[in-house]
Amino acid sequence: MSANIHDQTLRWYGRRRGHKLRPGRQALMETLLPRLRLELPPAGATLDFEGAFERCVSEVWLEVGFGAGEHLAAQAGARPDIGFIGCEPFINGIAGLLSLIASEGLTNVRVFDDDARKLLPCLPEASIGRIYALFTDPWPKKRHHRRRFIADQTVGELARVLADGGELRLASDHEGYVEWMLERVARHPDFSFPARSKGDWTDRPADWVETRYERKARKQGLKPVYLRFLRRPRTI
Ligand SMILES: C[S@@+](CC[C@H](N)C(=O)[O-])C[C@H]1O[C@@H](n2cnc3c(N)ncnc32)[C@H](O)[C@@H]1O
Repeated sequence: MSANIHDQTLRWYGRRRGHKLRPGRQALMETLLPRLRLELPPAGATLDFEGAFERCVSEVWLEVGFGAGEHLAAQAGARPDIGFIGCEPFINGIAGLLSLIASEGLTNVRVFDDDARKLLPCLPEASIGRIYALFTDPWPKKRHHRRRFIADQTVGELARVLADGGELRLASDHEGYVEWMLERVARHPDFSFPARSKGDWTDRPADWVETRYERKARKQGLKPVYLRFLRRPRTI
């Protein structure tokens, strides 16, 4: 049976916790996370971004599975005019992002410390300008494919929450997962795939910050693939 995106009890198969946090990071989990945590609205309601960020923002962007947070922090630092929501259930990763937010004094980031599939149905239609899901787990075994973040239900939700012309950026170093993502997103009627030549998916775009996982993959001789999709304008 496929996962139901509106089911708030969706099962999480990834890691929640790694090594014990250093005292400074543990302190940030107790003091900073409660201030930045994005809470889900009551069932059936949608999130209101009004006043969600400490500063005025022109758009809201989302990163799913930010890992240790270096990409999200770099994007947030480069674009203070944008409000960023980062989703990540892995506690050590969240602590890493909090440490960057604190050291860089970022005021335009909110954190959803759980499975992004629970947040997506609560976001208003056409409310997000860009979505990153970089190197989300490929779950290579066939019997685990249904655990992949990119799935028919999620792609429908991503299309619903993206604004017209908004961008969906995906990356992976796993060939099977790249094919899987292309099958589901490029063929979705709400998305276009503007890539024209090989370099469009083999070369990392200039404004695309290298992630920790990507660096590890390259060291192992793997070749990451970068996919950009655009949300087609809605017709009235
Ligand atoms: C392989 S790591 C990559 C982390 C980071 N994006 C990078 O490139 O270094 C995949 C991350 O995606 C997160 N992830 C996978 N599915 C997710 C979901 N449905 N919601 C939020 N995070 C998710 C995992 O917890 C994990 O930290």
